[in-house]
Amino acid sequence: MEVIASAPAKVILFGEHFVVYGEPAMVIAIDKRAYAKAQNRSDKRIYIRSSNLNLAAYFENSNFKVEKGDPKEAKLKFEPVRLAVEKVLEKHGETAGLNIEINSTVPVAAGLGSSAAVVAAVTTAVSTLLNVNISREEVFRITYEAEKIMHGTPSGIDPAIATFGGALLFQMDTGFKPLEVKMDIPLVIGDTGIERSTRVQVDKVRELRERYPQIMESLTWAARQIVMRALEALKDKDLETLGELMNINHALLYGIGVSDESLEWLINAARKAGALGAKLTGAGGGGCMIALARNEKLEEISEAIRRAGGTTFIARKTDEGARIERA
Ligand code: MEV
Repeated sequence: MEVIASAPAKVILFGEHFVVYGEPAMVIAIDKRAYAKAQNRSDKRIYIRSSNLNLAAYFENSNFKVEKGDPKEAKLKFEPVRLAVEKVLEKHGETAGLNIEINSTVPVAAGLGSSAAVVAAVTTAVSTLLNVNISREEVFRITYEAEKIMHGTPSGIDPAIATFGGALLFQMDTGFKPLEVKMDIPLVIGDTGIERSTRVQVDKVRELRERYPQIMESLTWAARQIVMRALEALKDKDLETLGELMNINHALLYGIGVSDESLEWLINAARKAGALGAKLTGAGGGGCMIALARNEKLEEISEAIRRAGGTTFIARKTDEGARIERA
């Protein structure tokens, strides 16, 4: 028997980094997905293969053996997957051997939540295969636990959107609220191609907070105002204001040191080509930027970002969170 499940990537429209300190953030799931296939095995190995990362390895008891690719990378990328599988096995009540095949269309370490999408897809596939009754809330929790191994102190925004899909207003202490989005949010995503670690970026901001607590407090206050104003703009279907707010939000992110030269090139190119607004998305330090534009401008902006050295795609919001594709 085999089960295939998937979960979406995301873009944070407003509020990354500040969300780690309890501020609200706005996030949407996009139509790029990570897929996971789970199959039973006759032995007790948890065999994981990722076609896009070109890695294969298995866990058996406390042993970890890499069959393909760089051992350090395999350990780093597969450890969260192993944790998710173990959590499902705990609920299952007995050990089982499994083959897990990951196939993701989401750029890795680029700010689009690829690791959370992979783990949410794996959790859904494995629990369905083993007939373990698991709520969406539990998929979220397991994905969040797995993210902690990868990212240190994540806010939970990536696991939430990968699990539930749609658009969310996310806040750490109050949880997340689905957002009703009655407008099209035309976005070009530009990938700098520079992989970076969320953990490193989050740690960098923490250190800055320790050194400049008052200044960081003001910036954090401003970040909250941006999200509040963006909620109004969303209600009014006011694309221009959303764009302007993205530019202001990016200025704050630049200020706290999480932009870099590669992102600035792409963001400036998008603005020059007529984007209503552009900002980095996710943890920064490389990875992806987003440009908001009128539909008729999307291609032109895409082209400008490509000329500036990025790879691009046009993203659409998806309402589908983690789901079973085939059982
Ligand atoms: C990563 O997608 C967003 C950050 O705010 C980290 C987090 O919220 O866990 C940078």
